[in-house]
Amino acid sequence: AVPSPAELLGLARDIAVRAGEQSLAARREGVSVAATKSTPLDIVTAVDRDTEALIRALIAEERPDDGVFGEEDAARIGTSGLEWIVDPIDGTVNFLYGIPNWAISIAVVSGGADPAEWTALAGVVVNPVSGELFEASKDGGARLAGAELRVNDPVPLSRALIGTGFGYAAEVRRAQGAVAAALLPGIRDLRRLGSAALDLCALAAGRLDGFYETGLNPWDHAAGALIAREAGALVTGPGGGRESSELLVAAGPALAPELRAALTAAGLPA
Ligand code: IPD
Repeated sequence: AVPSPAELLGLARDIAVRAGEQSLAARREGVSVAATKSTPLDIVTAVDRDTEALIRALIAEERPDDGVFGEEDAARIGTSGLEWIVDPIDGTVNFLYGIPNWAISIAVVSGGADPAEWTALAGVVVNPVSGELFEASKDGGARLAGAELRVNDPVPLSRALIGTGFGYAAEVRRAQGAVAAALLPGIRDLRRLGSAALDLCALAAGRLDGFYETGLNPWDHAAGALIAREAGALVTGPGGGRESSELLVAAGPALAPELRAALTAAGLPA
């Protein structure tokens, strides 16, 4: 039988908590860069790899026929129609520097191997340092430590605190910096907290009014976007369409169109 979103959430929560304990213990032992990926700034530590290995092993024990799509290892093709989208450590640079804002992000989606077809069923984002565990299931609401999450009441963009992030490639950052520079005079302030998964949870918890980023990967936003959506946010891709890694815009339903229009005016494709 196909498990319910609540059942999948329970499993994802248990796995994320164990992964959080392991990565926090490893962080206390010390961390160093094990390798670089897309650019010399795009780092991976042994803890990223070990944490993903643990998560994959725990998923395989309970759900051997599900697919797994993780940041640090090849995709595992499943046969059940369910995929686990895993970021073992989102905010790896914070993790390396000891900035206490990094997370384990785990989502379960239906729809097969094509991200364009995914529907998120359950999502968990755990910050092992603060102990905060954000979670949501489809149509089941979003919670932090058992308390229901709700995005902030509407504010005009000029009073909105907006989160964003930057990629690892210089030419990508040049464009992202230009957009941020154009947006900044028209908002309350901009935050670059260093973990897209936690940014989306911050939006859900009212710690940000909006969030946008270009060039994310599905594991950065799959769980956080469900949590934000279940807390009342509108989370959309280019042109206001489906959630997308290319451009992700998330905010309360009144602010989202204004933020999107400002981003378009700042140079992002409509
Ligand atoms: C990064 C973080 C960061 C975002 C980058 C991501 P990683 O993920 O989410 O906030 O700005 O685009 O790549 O590399 O720490 O897993």
